[in-house]
Amino acid sequence: MPKPLHLIVACSANRVIGREGRLPWRLPEDLAHFHAATAGRICVLGRVCYETWPRVHADGRQPIVITSRADIARPGARAAASLPAALAIADKLPCEVFICGGERIYAETLTLAGTRPLHLHLTLIHATIEGDTFMPEWRYLAWREVSHRESADDTYRYTFSTLELPGGSTA
Ligand SMILES: NC(=O)c1ccc[n+]([C@@H]2O[C@H](COP(=O)([O-])OP(=O)(O)OC[C@H]3O[C@@H](n4cnc5c(N)ncnc54)[C@H](OP(=O)(O)O)[C@@H]3O)[C@@H](O)[C@H]2O)c1
Repeated sequence: MPKPLHLIVACSANRVIGREGRLPWRLPEDLAHFHAATAGRICVLGRVCYETWPRVHADGRQPIVITSRADIARPGARAAASLPAALAIADKLPCEVFICGGERIYAETLTLAGTRPLHLHLTLIHATIEGDTFMPEWRYLAWREVSHRESADDTYRYTFSTLELPGGSTA
């Protein structure tokens, strides 16, 4: 039985997630949420995310980095050439699987709707923000919201929500 997949992402109202290889905002509350949610978990992520997130090796995380350059994975990380290859590794490990981006990896994971349960841990920032990397549209799927919390700092208002999509549900 394939494991459920937990996508975790922060995006702006215009679905921006990144700019020039970095986050386009500084949101300490969201960063803390991201670190707490992924601690001790399998973290599937693209090569750029891996290279820009040194803490992926801390707090018991088990990184699986998707890359054509297997030699960049440091001790403690596994490398895979594709999302299916990464999930084949993750399905054999005894732990929940978090999909940590970037753009293509989120997009490919969303196409797995209906084949396994998906959970989306979404931080939606209520602002239009400039960027070059995007969260693919997710709202065409029949998600059920299971948690919702509003928050804000001096710059942004944002919503933490958790959405679920059972395996077998695609519309
Ligand atoms: N706001 C958020 O929650 C969030 C989350 C994640 C990322 N981000 C932001 O997004 C940006 C990084 O994401 P990104 O999309 O540019 O890069 P990325 O996915 O982290 O890395 C891209 C690289 O990963 C490999 N790769 C990615 N998808 C693949 C696939 N489906 N099959 C095979 N290989 C694949 C390739 O590596 P090789 O070139 O080595 O073959 C590709 O060049 C940064 O700005 C980051 O801050 C934000």
